[in-house]
Amino acid sequence: MNKVVLITGGARRIGAETASYLHSKGMNIVITYSKSSKDAKMLKKSLNNKRECSCEIYKVEFNSKLDFNKTTRNILKLFGRVDYLINNASKFYPTKINEISDKVWSDTIDTNIKAPLFLSSYFYKELKKRRGAIVNIIDIHVEPPLKDHIIYNVSKAGLLALTRSLAKDLAPHIRVNGVSPGAIMWPESDSSKKKKMDILSKIPMRCSGEPLDIAKAVYFLLIESPYITGQNINVDGGRRLNM
Ligand SMILES: NC(=O)c1ccc[n+]([C@@H]2O[C@H](COP(=O)([O-])OP(=O)(O)OC[C@H]3O[C@@H](n4cnc5c(N)ncnc54)[C@H](OP(=O)(O)O)[C@@H]3O)[C@@H](O)[C@H]2O)c1
Repeated sequence: MNKVVLITGGARRIGAETASYLHSKGMNIVITYSKSSKDAKMLKKSLNNKRECSCEIYKVEFNSKLDFNKTTRNILKLFGRVDYLINNASKFYPTKINEISDKVWSDTIDTNIKAPLFLSSYFYKELKKRRGAIVNIIDIHVEPPLKDHIIYNVSKAGLLALTRSLAKDLAPHIRVNGVSPGAIMWPESDSSKKKKMDILSKIPMRCSGEPLDIAKAVYFLLIESPYITGQNINVDGGRRLNM
């Protein structure tokens, strides 16, 4: 029986590449999507063309009203099992100190921390039964923080703390690790060439990374590292050395 991996926000970009890579390694895939219904359906079709009945998609918006109990039960029914959880879905946008509000706080925190924690909790029994693993996709900007992104920084720092707490609390049954991308894919709203050149000039490897670099780190933590838990791997071309 193929192992099943659940990837949140997996319809596009890094999540979709991770889904395709893990699928190529023989896993069955469940991706959640919120707005990217077309991309999710295309990815499902493409993966199922490669291997029949190997990918399912599930629409979910992480917000304060979400019923996690129902969501996890429905996801579990898709393949009858979940072995691995990748918390990839994320909100990323600037919030200056005078722009703080309940709305932007909940928007980011509900997606970037609450969903990873609640999914880990609601899938705990299942992941324990499968001797599974969790990977949280964090960010090198947990330290030092990114200017004018106070809520995002707090959310990702919280996700790192969550990763370590879960690693302790869920051991020895479930391993929990983080992967922190550096500059892998530019935000779609960000078109400043100068800003990009500035970031690239500070990366020892002198280039941005590829989504596949993240996918491979995730695979390593899920499959090839049975004695690693509570760790966070920076996949950043050495950028943290110059921050
Ligand atoms: N891109 C980079 O270079 C970079 C750098 C550092 C860290 N990271 C981290 O790596 C991960 C993937 O990066 P990315 O750039 O591929 O991510 P992204 O495009 O910013 O977001 C991934 C997906 O998250 C989903 N999402 C957002 N809010 C949601 C909500 N409230 N409910 C449900 N789904 C929601 C969206 O799904 P829909 O499109 O279906 O709405 C989106 O496609 C993220 O955790 C990100 O923080 C990326």
